[in-house]
Amino acid sequence: KLDHSAYFGRIHGILMYKPFIEFWDDVEAFEARPDDIVIAAYPKSGITWVSEIVDMIHKEGDVEKCKEDAIFNRVPYLECRKDGVMNGIKQLKQMASPRRVKTHLSPELLPASFWEKNCKMIYLCRNAKDVVVSFYYFFLMVDGHPHPGSFQEFAEKFMDGQVPYGSWYKHAKSWWEKRKNPHVLFLFYEDMQEDIKKEVIKLIQFLGKKTSEELVDKIVQHTSFQEMKNNPSTNYTILPDEVMNQKISPFMRKGIVGDWKNHFTVALNEKFDTHYEEQMKGSTLNLRTEI
Ligand code: PPS
Repeated sequence: KLDHSAYFGRIHGILMYKPFIEFWDDVEAFEARPDDIVIAAYPKSGITWVSEIVDMIHKEGDVEKCKEDAIFNRVPYLECRKDGVMNGIKQLKQMASPRRVKTHLSPELLPASFWEKNCKMIYLCRNAKDVVVSFYYFFLMVDGHPHPGSFQEFAEKFMDGQVPYGSWYKHAKSWWEKRKNPHVLFLFYEDMQEDIKKEVIKLIQFLGKKTSEELVDKIVQHTSFQEMKNNPSTNYTILPDEVMNQKISPFMRKGIVGDWKNHFTVALNEKFDTHYEEQMKGSTLNLRTEI
């Protein structure tokens, strides 16, 4: 049995990092500004990728300006509290508008103020099987996580929603329900892999900026997996090993679609598919689990 209780508690029934819960009142009371841009995703869905693209759009394609600071300072992680490392709310309070806000929260847990102020929100969805794999390595390398056990054991926890941020299925379905809200842009990691230019143009237009071929090309080039893997302002190597041990696994790990095929046994895959069908019944969200 994996002992999660030393690391995680619950917030509105959803498993969450204990240090975050301690300051949850501040999260709930967070005051949005109307021009805040929320970038939301379930963990390990590629939020760093979208964050870098959004920041490049904000900085009108100025690569040097983007390289001036780490991604977690340019796009603070709202609910994150890590002593001496990150304090999302404090960072955001001090930030000039328009703020770019990273969050892993579901629509229900997102501070109400963002909805009340009609802030623009981008949700990134990634196929659940690749998310489990990426999350597994994250558990192994990042401080504040219990040992995840075997991959099979971790996958079962994930299916059961017993991981931070809870059920992937509920998270994705709930954001999917918001997709028709004109302030919400729903994106897929797999679409970005298939045609990044198209998704970058979507983002530029959603943010009400002028698109040009030059800008799109610059963004695509600067935010490729290889560029981001080699860039200290996006690859998290600024964090010390005690916080994130990239000797175990790099943060920019593989950045591909379908790595789950290297981790799932045939039996686990069947079990996962059956469970997936049950969980997603009634939703029109189609995530191509066979990818
Ligand atoms: S976190 O910790 O939740 O904020 O992580 P997140 O950024 O959401 O997800 C990390 C995964 O996204 C991959 N990634 C990318 N893929 C393709 N292109 C680019 N530019 C890119 N940047 C990050 C990263 O490699 C992680 O996925 P895995 O499958 O582990 O490689």
